[in-house]
Amino acid sequence: MRNGIDQSRLISVGVVGLGTIAQVAHLPNLVDLSNRFRVVAVADLSAQLAEEISKRLPGPVRATTDWRDLCTDPAIDALLLLTPGDHSSMAADGLSAGKHVFAEKPLCYTVAEAATLGKQSRAAGLVLQVGYMKMHEAVLAKAREALGTIGDLRSVRVIVRHPSDESQLRDAGIVRFDDVDAVVPPSSQAADQTRVALGEVPEEYGRLYRDVLHGSLIHELSLLRAVLGHLPQSIESATAWPIDQLTSLNGGPPCVSAEGIFAADARFQIDWLWTPDQPTYYEQLEIVGTAGSIELRLPPPYATKRTAELVVDNSDGINRIDGGTDSAFNRELRAFHEAVSSGTPGLDAEGVGEDVAWLQRLTTRLALDRAVTVSSEAGSS
Ligand SMILES: NC(=O)c1ccc[n+]([C@@H]2O[C@H](COP(=O)([O-])OP(=O)(O)OC[C@H]3O[C@@H](n4cnc5c(N)ncnc54)[C@H](O)[C@@H]3O)[C@@H](O)[C@H]2O)c1
Repeated sequence: MRNGIDQSRLISVGVVGLGTIAQVAHLPNLVDLSNRFRVVAVADLSAQLAEEISKRLPGPVRATTDWRDLCTDPAIDALLLLTPGDHSSMAADGLSAGKHVFAEKPLCYTVAEAATLGKQSRAAGLVLQVGYMKMHEAVLAKAREALGTIGDLRSVRVIVRHPSDESQLRDAGIVRFDDVDAVVPPSSQAADQTRVALGEVPEEYGRLYRDVLHGSLIHELSLLRAVLGHLPQSIESATAWPIDQLTSLNGGPPCVSAEGIFAADARFQIDWLWTPDQPTYYEQLEIVGTAGSIELRLPPPYATKRTAELVVDNSDGINRIDGGTDSAFNRELRAFHEAVSSGTPGLDAEGVGEDVAWLQRLTTRLALDRAVTVSSEAGSS
């Protein structure tokens, strides 16, 4: 024991990518969980940002611009990958270097990579966890319990109203420097993976697939899996609009809606709406059965101290359940610590692969809406 901390339970981490999500959520939570984690090194393409963040953390913390330094550092047990885009090649390299890996979503763009990474982590006995923090909301266990009280399922609906990051992060005090370009063009690797995922498609569908579906809507899939145990069975129709936002991103990304069959006799609808100037992010999952309903209201992603709230309406009356103050971001890091400490590989590999396959089917439907054919890796049904 040193400073009241059991050193054997401390996991030494290297953090890669020190932008928005690192500064708003993961770094404060790592500090808050100092009885579980110790940040020993940070990496960012921006040397100034890496230096600045290393100084702000309880130290000593090494700063570097080359994330591979962290792979070869024997003092590091685990990597947190918080860079933009997908994290498949970094995750594979981290696992090959013998590190446990926590990767922000999306993990990968192809079903094949999800399977390969799952196999790699299991074979190496290393944890690979994806940053699906919504799956860790405290009230989810009660939502699952309530499913047994609402009769036969009839409808599952998700709505997201997504403001721009500028509007959500106005007062977040994110530190950035101009020693690297702020906008990194999509890597050729991302383009190659998109080709494997979707075949040859107009670039707007590649962008939609990567930036909107994997960048945000994928969270809703992880939430559906966490609460209801599976994804919607089939997508009957889907549309992305306004059209100039789909084709040129004029005014931001397009809105996306899809509907179809969730399961026998239950419909689903998802509406992901780009509402750039709306002051507050809004997200709700509504589950309706023949004998009651469940509403789950999720907090804005950058309101990292807030938690989901649940309303269950059944034969017992209307019951409102508050998620308390134990945030999903904090809980997901505790789950990572638990998985590493107990030697339980953490990647829900099948779940990640299912999400990727579902997003490929959704893209196929979205393209069909404009008579564009997509031959996705996952097929169309
Ligand atoms: N869970 C959530 O709700 C949530 C919310 C926002 C973002 N995210 C995810 O977090 C990740 C990062 O998003 P962000 O908004 O923080 O991005 P960001 O652009 O604000 O920050 C990313 C940082 O990574 C650095 N970087 C890029 N490539 C690098 C490399 N090869 N080596 C070292 N550093 C590198 C950049 O310089 C930048 O500082 C994305 O995968 C995103 O999907 C998740």
